[in-house]
Amino acid sequence: MSEIRSPALHWQGDALALLDQRLLPAETHWHRYDDADGVAQAIRDMVVRGAPAIGIAAAYGIVLAARQLGDNADPDRLRPAFATLAASRPTAVNLFWALDRMREAAATLQGQALIQALDDTACRIHQDDLAMNQRLAAFGVGLLPEGGVIYTHCNTGALATGGHGTALGVIRSAWAAGRIRGVIAGETRPWLQGSRLTSWELMQDRIPVTLVVDSAAGHLMQRGQVQAVIVGADRITANGDTANKIGTYALAVLARHHGLPFIVAAPCSTIDPARADGHSIEIEERDGAEVRRIREQQLAPHDVEVANPAFDVTPAALITAIVTEHGVIPAPDTDKMAAHLRYAESTHD
Ligand code: MRU
Repeated sequence: MSEIRSPALHWQGDALALLDQRLLPAETHWHRYDDADGVAQAIRDMVVRGAPAIGIAAAYGIVLAARQLGDNADPDRLRPAFATLAASRPTAVNLFWALDRMREAAATLQGQALIQALDDTACRIHQDDLAMNQRLAAFGVGLLPEGGVIYTHCNTGALATGGHGTALGVIRSAWAAGRIRGVIAGETRPWLQGSRLTSWELMQDRIPVTLVVDSAAGHLMQRGQVQAVIVGADRITANGDTANKIGTYALAVLARHHGLPFIVAAPCSTIDPARADGHSIEIEERDGAEVRRIREQQLAPHDVEVANPAFDVTPAALITAIVTEHGVIPAPDTDKMAAHLRYAESTHD
């Protein structure tokens, strides 16, 4: 029975334990799931979040569904579990990428052989993610200005991935290499991934971090207190347009105005080559309660109309470079993205 542990996910062979990211940093509480419905609900409720981490969780959700079917497990009987997990969150493509890999692994098998193949595939997705992030970070370090202070948004660290992180992984590696002076974390309203998760992860690693409200970004850039912006991604289209946490687009516009590098760090599993550009990306609209209140604290009239888009799309033209586990795509466009994916395919291990 395989067991894999990373900071936010613990595969126990017969169940998936998830660190409840809604409670951090005040409380460290793990939940145990032994069926696909529970995992789908955990993704929807953001017990687990971050594009790579929800892909990993969904893959384990399929293993749990197959285990419940036991000797009767077959691709047809797994369909409802695939459908439930696919409906959990719409924007991050890693979820669908992971489910596609699981579907391929299940295609011609049944019973215990199917369960074993699914378990192997999910564990591989989990372990590969950490290795990819470390490779991605090594490519990304050189993109950050020497001695710079780096602004980041949302949480793209070990909590959002199989470990190390994407944008935060680049920051971690750059700090370890003595390349950067410190980090500014935007708090990332309304869910506060920046204040609750990113500042917490960086402090644990003793990387100097200053927390700011999202609306401070322009002022800090204007005063020369930021030398680059690095963010993760939830879906990158064939031309390099990038969906990421709401507020990312505004940061890219600000970075361009101030002549600062704007870097996107994401594994190739975040690239959606079937979608030509970002216009048709489905943007998750979350409950207005996330904006009206923080936990029990009411912040707005309880019945005020709220718009709560969880993501936005940054046009490729505003992106200085995209870095993946296969290298750097400077000034991304459709041709360069396609060439990068062909290269990634040719080096596939
Ligand atoms: O709503 P979330 O917290 O799942 O959104 C997360 C982000 O937008 C991250 O930047 C993205 O998923 C990359 S995580 C490595």
